[in-house]
Amino acid sequence: MYIVITASPNSDGLTAACGKAALDGVKQAGGQAELYDIKALEPCRVCGNGWGSCRDTSKCVIGDVLPELQAKLRECQGVFLVTPVYFGQPAERMKYFLDRFRRCEAFNHEGSAASGKQFDLIAAAGGSGNGTATCLTEMESWCRAVGAIAQERIGVTRFNREPALKLIEDAAARMVKGEYFTRF
Ligand SMILES: Cc1cc2nc3c(=O)[nH]c(=O)nc-3n(C[C@H](O)[C@H](O)[C@H](O)COP(=O)(O)O)c2cc1C
Repeated sequence: MYIVITASPNSDGLTAACGKAALDGVKQAGGQAELYDIKALEPCRVCGNGWGSCRDTSKCVIGDVLPELQAKLRECQGVFLVTPVYFGQPAERMKYFLDRFRRCEAFNHEGSAASGKQFDLIAAAGGSGNGTATCLTEMESWCRAVGAIAQERIGVTRFNREPALKLIEDAAARMVKGEYFTRF
């Protein structure tokens, strides 16, 4: 199973098109994929003195979809993180996920749920395209914190939309076919 996580308020925008390309690529290669559109995810509450109970328990106190995502990522074979670019960074909703997942998993006694998993990172910058690289860099740095293996880093703009969607589809198919490296 492959997990596609999208984080845009627009159901039919550039981010959604990128998410669909990832789903299509997985399916074309014979894999199964599940889409999580994390519209309702809440931000971190920064509990306690800054380190909440999540550091020791690997559980967030907020009762939303995060625990389900932690479980899904632990089971899955690969992940696609697809975010709009806002101010050169992942959009807030994606940041909520990245922040809270990292707090829960970076120090997980059983090992991070993302450890050794392959991730394709996709930044959808529908404006000038500025900030695509910084957005991808931020997600790549997150991968290192949670033990994930960043594979593709794909910047999608208004100007390269069609070839970039094809690239996402192709990258997803390659992930399913095992054409990526899994160890350094
Ligand atoms: C708050 C905000 C900040 C944005 N910042 C950038 C930016 O730094 N660079 C860029 O190219 N586009 C920027 N955009 C445009 C979004 O990347 C664009 O709307 C993108 O298509 C979002 O994906 P969507 O179509 O799924 O909504 C910004 C949009 C918003 C709402």
